[in-house]
Amino acid sequence: MADANHQFYDRLLSLGLARVSEAAALASARLIGRGDEKAADQAAVNAMRDQLNLLDIAGVVVIGEGERDEAPMLFIGEEVGTGNGPAVDIALDPLEGTTLTAKDMPNALTVIAMAPRGTMLHAPDVYMEKLAIGPGYAPDTVTLKMSPAERVHALAKAKGGTAADITVCILERPRHEDLIAEVRKTGAAIRLITDGDVAGVIHCAEAHLTGIDMYMGSGGAPEGVLAAAALKCMGGQMYGQLLFRNDDERSRARRAGITDLDRIYTRDELVTADVIFAATGVTNGSILAGIRREPGWVTTETILMRSKTGSVRRMSYRSPVK
Ligand code: FBP
Repeated sequence: MADANHQFYDRLLSLGLARVSEAAALASARLIGRGDEKAADQAAVNAMRDQLNLLDIAGVVVIGEGERDEAPMLFIGEEVGTGNGPAVDIALDPLEGTTLTAKDMPNALTVIAMAPRGTMLHAPDVYMEKLAIGPGYAPDTVTLKMSPAERVHALAKAKGGTAADITVCILERPRHEDLIAEVRKTGAAIRLITDGDVAGVIHCAEAHLTGIDMYMGSGGAPEGVLAAAALKCMGGQMYGQLLFRNDDERSRARRAGITDLDRIYTRDELVTADVIFAATGVTNGSILAGIRREPGWVTTETILMRSKTGSVRRMSYRSPVK
């Protein structure tokens, strides 16, 4: 049982969270480029769960591998940690980019976020329409209510340039054909990604390094909550709206406690309190280096962030290969 007297000491817990993220990445290392998405994901899930259960927290998975009947481990509602510590929500994706890992393509990550209990949206496994920009812009510079072209022009104006100075990141999917065509018409550049929209959104927070100014389009709702947690730490704006393809998806949302199915969530409504976020690179990417293997050693890079302080740490970890 959670002890109500345990505070969410995010500073103390953050290193533990980085270890969880590192462990998942290390476990998937030998499966990079092996064409087996399931095995890579399973290795990351097992390792993440084992490490998470060592932490002194009374954790509940709110964003996880799926609902209890479809995911044996790290399912939504699973209690994790020793139980001896603060009551927290856990959002995780042990391997964000299973296909990227199996094909050894850029930007596969392991991702985990932790916040006080009841402060992260229990997003069902449906799609979410997402829009994100980095820090330094006035509130609502772009919104989901604007058309994609209006967003490009509004951001260009706020940046002090023209549409040609804007790069938008979009998942390459048939459902995005119209979106891509409309953005192209403005003269903006598009960075198409084949997977991994948590990384896609994070890219906006470091536009000077990644060259990406804005993220647009639909992707997994669970990934949307994880991306919001990251942006809350790094700065930047994000909006998300759940998308439903059928009644089954609508009832999933209602079961998760969502009453207003049309609501547009801001970043701080997706994650309402201070959060800690950790991600470790699996394959090389523009935010994090991937796992590097040398004879006898394996090295990972992890980004560890706290929204309370806005601190962003990049940590390199070298471990002997046993
Ligand atoms: P996996 O981690 O399961 O491989 O998901 C990768 C991902 O690209 C997410 O980043 C994204 O939100 C989602 O899949 C998009 O879903 P879809 O492939 O159905 O368009």
